[in-house]
Amino acid sequence: MSLESMFDVAGKSVLVTGAAYGLGRAYAEIMAAQGAHVSVLDLNADQLARTVAEIAATDPRGTIHAEVVDVTDRAAMDAVFDTVSVRQGGIDVVFANAGVDAGPGFLTPEGHRNPDGEIDNLDDAHWDKVIGINLTSIYYTMKLAARHMKRQGRGGSIIATSSIAAFYVDGIVGTPYMPAKAGVSHLVKQVAMELGRYGIRVNAICPGPFITNIAGGRMANVEDRQAFVRWSCLGRVAETEEIKPLALYLASNASGYVTGSQMVIDGGLILRPAPELD
Ligand SMILES: NC(=O)c1ccc[n+]([C@@H]2O[C@H](COP(=O)([O-])OP(=O)(O)OC[C@H]3O[C@@H](n4cnc5c(N)ncnc54)[C@H](O)[C@@H]3O)[C@@H](O)[C@H]2O)c1
Repeated sequence: MSLESMFDVAGKSVLVTGAAYGLGRAYAEIMAAQGAHVSVLDLNADQLARTVAEIAATDPRGTIHAEVVDVTDRAAMDAVFDTVSVRQGGIDVVFANAGVDAGPGFLTPEGHRNPDGEIDNLDDAHWDKVIGINLTSIYYTMKLAARHMKRQGRGGSIIATSSIAAFYVDGIVGTPYMPAKAGVSHLVKQVAMELGRYGIRVNAICPGPFITNIAGGRMANVEDRQAFVRWSCLGRVAETEEIKPLALYLASNASGYVTGSQMVIDGGLILRPAPELD
């Protein structure tokens, strides 16, 4: 098999949640560029329209369509999956990606206590919202992917965007973010075990700090990203472009024997020593 055919996704039907900005947009760009038929889902209608227009303007080998939807709206997600399946002749690859930050943690980046982020002061509605988007909607996206892929009987690849937050604790990240991502990573392993017999692979991408629009685009601010730059073995944060090869690998037959994996892409940040607590 040639290297080209291993990574070939031409003609595959792909769905990406949370693709108006950031990593989801990068997944959509690489899939469409490589000849896949791609539907991008997001609740930010204006930005999604701009993103689709910009990707279409690059004259990709594949196709790109927008579906405005909130991933926490189950009935709307059911309908979008059906629409995409009809339009694209089934669904082969699903990126369960949409997610939000969880605000400041119990520590400031300078290492001081932030009372608003402490467990006894956490806002319950905030907890419910973050878990709802970052964990429960990933479960539901996977559920719909499995339903379509099992019915089609031609296998598939489900790729969830988890985080290195699944594997460590961090005081400067809002507390609900951590168990949500740990849940996503564990869900990936559980569902991979179940769906293997149908030829459906399930993997997690676990990024470290990427410059996206998350947290209002904070990572683009040089001062805000200093803590992450300091902790990275490579001394920098990542550009969204840098996620593309991994996305292509997991979507294609190049990763045909890879399932239940946690693909860490973090510049070695997770290797840093534990932070000192005051
Ligand atoms: N950027 C990083 O450093 C980083 C690190 C680790 C993990 N992640 C994860 O990567 C994923 C993508 O984040 P990003 O950094 O690209 O952020 P981003 O804010 O740039 O993009 C997220 C997209 O998801 C959309 N979205 C949010 N809530 C939604 C909802 N309820 N329904 C539909 N769409 C919704 C947003 O509108 C946005 O377009 C998230 O799951 C995030 O937790 C990001």
